[in-house]
Amino acid sequence: MERTLIILKPDAVARGLIGTIIERFERKGFHILAIKLTRMNASTAQEHYAMHKGKPFYQGLINFMTAGPVVLLVLQGEHAIEVVRKMMGATFGFQAEPGTIRGDFGLSSSLNLIHGSDSPEAAQVEIERFFTPTELFDGSIRVPK
Ligand code: RTP
Ligand code: MG
Repeated sequence: MERTLIILKPDAVARGLIGTIIERFERKGFHILAIKLTRMNASTAQEHYAMHKGKPFYQGLINFMTAGPVVLLVLQGEHAIEVVRKMMGATFGFQAEPGTIRGDFGLSSSLNLIHGSDSPEAAQVEIERFFTPTELFDGSIRVPK
């Protein structure tokens, strides 16, 4: 069982696609362990995308990620990292296959709706970046006596 960190980027939130995107993950069978609406500050966005520092699109990416609220999620399921990346589609909306989130809802190369961790190592670091252990739930219910 794997866990992965999802970010519904500011364009997804602004366009009213939170429910539509989350519904796809629920229907696929993922469990939502954590969910949060928040606004990312510049230093968190810089840390999250540190691997792209120095690239031509980096500053635009930081500006975009901090431009409005995002939704952070931790999903759990079999092969969650690979399956979520498949469901997201290719990075640029105009290249992403129809049937994927980016392929169905966007054409842009930068405003591409969603982030998903790309490896188990990244997932662990990213989950810890945005959530404390007590914010993660296992989905079970306990009925008080
Ligand atoms: P993400 O990290 O957000 O899940 O996206 P990704 O793995 O599919 O793409 P990545 O190569 O890691 O790029 C991170 C984000 O930077 C923006 N980008 N713009 N204009 C460009 O050439 C360009 N390339 C990347 C996108 O927002 C991309 O998701
Ligand atoms: Mg990436």
